[in-house]
Amino acid sequence: MKKTIVLLAVLSSFNFGFSQGNTHTQTGGKFEGLAMTPPMGWNSWNTFAANIDEKLVKETADIMVSSGLAAAGYNYIVLDDGWMTKERDANGDLVPDPAKFPNGMKALIDYVHSKGLKFGLYNCAGTQTCAGYPGTRGYEYQDARFYAKLGIDFLKYDWCNTKGITAPEAYTTMSNALKTAGRPIVFSLCEWGDNQPWEWGKPVGNLWRISGDIYPCFDCEFKHPENWSSWGFMKIAEMRKDIRKYSGPDHWNDFDMMEVGNEMNDTEDKSHFAMWCMLSSPLFTGNDYRKMSKETLAILTNKELIAINQDKLGIQGFKHSAEDGLEVWVKPLSDGNWAVTFLNRSDVSKKINFDWKKNTFKDVDFGYEADFNKTAFKLKNLWTNKEAGSTKKNFTAELASHDCITLKLSL
Ligand code: GLA
Repeated sequence: MKKTIVLLAVLSSFNFGFSQGNTHTQTGGKFEGLAMTPPMGWNSWNTFAANIDEKLVKETADIMVSSGLAAAGYNYIVLDDGWMTKERDANGDLVPDPAKFPNGMKALIDYVHSKGLKFGLYNCAGTQTCAGYPGTRGYEYQDARFYAKLGIDFLKYDWCNTKGITAPEAYTTMSNALKTAGRPIVFSLCEWGDNQPWEWGKPVGNLWRISGDIYPCFDCEFKHPENWSSWGFMKIAEMRKDIRKYSGPDHWNDFDMMEVGNEMNDTEDKSHFAMWCMLSSPLFTGNDYRKMSKETLAILTNKELIAINQDKLGIQGFKHSAEDGLEVWVKPLSDGNWAVTFLNRSDVSKKINFDWKKNTFKDVDFGYEADFNKTAFKLKNLWTNKEAGSTKKNFTAELASHDCITLKLSL
């Protein structure tokens, strides 16, 4: 018994006691139940990179509320990389950049909270963030206390400059640090799927990225000169095989912040949004709300699509079939219902003529099945908001290149 206690003490000091920032009593496990449906919000990175400031955040929060985005479910405002100064202060604390946030981070967070919204920050498990700001390595407990004191609600935790450390340990350390600091904070793991976070992330965080960074295109690979790639949304949708069984309430596969409203056309944006809803991905908008078109807003606030994403069963959809560029993605929903998205991946328009009776949907991971020979469903088109007959008859439609139709099948 004594030996066990001594061994535990040695092990715990070995794992966690390696810096000035890490004097603490360790508490284990993430905050449970903070993300029972995929989190929704806005993240600064896709449009603004490190060019962020107080005015942008306040305007974004204001528009999130006034435009109806908040009422549709978007409630996190997350500041990504670039919110700090390049050095910690004399106490080793992180310093919100006073040029970007002249009234301090606390006042800004209070402002966001006063609008009924939640607030998130970013840091990195390594020695520096991806954009070269101070990383958290060795300061996990100190940074967690700093975030708790500021009153943040969400932490995105990246994976740059992590040579020599292993992901499960680094993310577990930060998760424990947040838990110990005591403020419930959604923990978003951003290590790009390199170390299979879906296999170990469930007790550690509430969501985990499954890919490298998104790029605003349908299906492209964008090669950066420094030898890494960003990916079109359809590439990300299919990047990892067989991981849907790991996603669910409070532990989501994260397909990255959205590019809706950025460089794609409205048709592609619509398909991007439909896919993120079908995949139960966290829904973080990545556009400039101040320049948002009414078409973009309509896509992002499509209540029926959001309901598919937020369905309480929390099951990630999957590809049922692909033929000649026409893909059929399906997602089991609560109450025995299903969502179906027909997506034209090709460069030419396609005719859909879908015979339900020849297409039994089988979810091998979660055991759901829809056999249309046995059960008929009513159909509703979630983009036009119109009834669309039933599965007793073939579903027919014309689909433009890169366009999609999402149907809800109800018993
Ligand atoms: C990585 C992440 C991005 C973003 C940047 C910030 O590339 O994957 O989502 O946070 O770092 O530098």
